[in-house]
Amino acid sequence: MDELHREDVPYGNDWDSAVEVAAWAEEADRIRPWRSRIRDHVAGRVALLPPGARVLELGSGPGFLAHAVLRRCPDLGSYTLLDFSEPMLALSRDVAPLDSWTLG
Ligand SMILES: C[S@@+](CC[C@H](N)C(=O)[O-])C[C@H]1O[C@@H](n2cnc3c(N)ncnc32)[C@H](O)[C@@H]1O
Repeated sequence: MDELHREDVPYGNDWDSAVEVAAWAEEADRIRPWRSRIRDHVAGRVALLPPGARVLELGSGPGFLAHAVLRRCPDLGSYTLLDFSEPMLALSRDVAPLDSWTLG
């Protein structure tokens, strides 16, 4: 383990675990009900971008933010979700199954 890793603060979740990811997604908005307001705020900022803008979301998780943004911003050129968790990417395909999405 190198010096930087020793200083990492673990998030506390195993994002490779489908069970843990499903549990996180199920409770995320229930125990933090303000999250939808944050998504609406971000979607409002993205809506100010010119038509055809390309958006990259880092750490996109279950796709809740992507869902809110794409509902409000139908004129985006592309929307790319980047997440290193396969279970999260699998969830996001269900949350917002749009053909124009790029998952990575
Ligand atoms: C707490 S979740 C938040 C998900 C989403 N942003 C939301 O608010 O609904 C954090 C996400 O970031 C992803 N993540 C954390 N570190 C990452 C990295 N270095 N590269 C890619 N994804 C990462 C995790 O897999 C997880 O899906």
